[in-house]
Amino acid sequence: MTELYDPFSDVRGFRYTGSLRAVYPLSPKTRIPSSIRKPNYVNSPEEQQGVRTAAVLAREALEIVASHIRPGVTTDELDKVLVQAAIERKCYPSPLGYHGYPKSVCTSVNEVICHGIPDQRPLADGDIINIDVTLFHEGFHGDLNATYTVGERAKNDEALVRLIRTARECLDKAINICGPGMPYAEIGHVIKPHAEANGCAVVRNYTGHGIGRVFHGAPTIYHHPTRKAYGIMKPGHIFTIEPMLNLGTEWRDVSWPDDWTVATVDGAPSAAAEETLLITETGVEILTAKGGPRKIDTTEAREAHLKARAERRESGSE
Ligand code: MF3
Ligand code: CO
Ligand code: CO
Repeated sequence: MTELYDPFSDVRGFRYTGSLRAVYPLSPKTRIPSSIRKPNYVNSPEEQQGVRTAAVLAREALEIVASHIRPGVTTDELDKVLVQAAIERKCYPSPLGYHGYPKSVCTSVNEVICHGIPDQRPLADGDIINIDVTLFHEGFHGDLNATYTVGERAKNDEALVRLIRTARECLDKAINICGPGMPYAEIGHVIKPHAEANGCAVVRNYTGHGIGRVFHGAPTIYHHPTRKAYGIMKPGHIFTIEPMLNLGTEWRDVSWPDDWTVATVDGAPSAAAEETLLITETGVEILTAKGGPRKIDTTEAREAHLKARAERRESGSE
């Protein structure tokens, strides 16, 4: 007879709230007959390759659309560029018809946080624009976005440049702690402090998401600390991280009457960055990376992050 024990008795900072106690060890993992089909919680190597291919094509299409950004170009013209790039690559533009979305790409200008609909407005010197491309290729989606300045005025606007740079840095910091064993909830703990240290607020009502055969699946990826975030990263998981940052301290959003366009409540500019990610045995592969898929060994960064978080929790600063 194995010894029974309370698995949480030594967990510092944890206290049971009532008299109930967990009693371990759990019995051995249940085996289900192999004749019964299993649900998919991780992607097979074939599925990983399917998303990788879609991701590479989406990256190529984003770069092509971005090369057309200049004052005077309408966002509708950018949509047409995306459609052409998608068709050339034998891809369907995932947004087109998605819950009734009317166009093939999202073009989010200035105070628009996300889901901006390409229309007849010409871009102006001093604008910023987020281009969010998702392509569907042979059964799999790949999804990424990036934010750009328009013309010389925006390029010389310190606050706008800082906003765009900080969104990208938040994404990179989050990617660098991704790997097996990392709770999805940690992503928000990395992003929020960096955003706020740079004068930006993290949008809470829009999230990253699992992706693969479906456009938006589990898990939901929160970019701010919240108890709604659950789950642990595991090899074969594929998801996006796509932090949306508003200049200033106001994170709240409001939708335009088209029921798609999401804007900041105070009209402050907003920027974002997004990549599609695959968890590997040693860390993460950025499937949509510029220049092609890139694997990162995050073993040390993950250990350092979890250690620092535990110390902060114990010292009561969190
Ligand atoms: N590409 C967006 C994302 O990152 C989703 C756009 S849905 C659309 O999840 F319908 F607005 F296109
Ligand atoms: Co996207
Ligand atoms: Co996405």
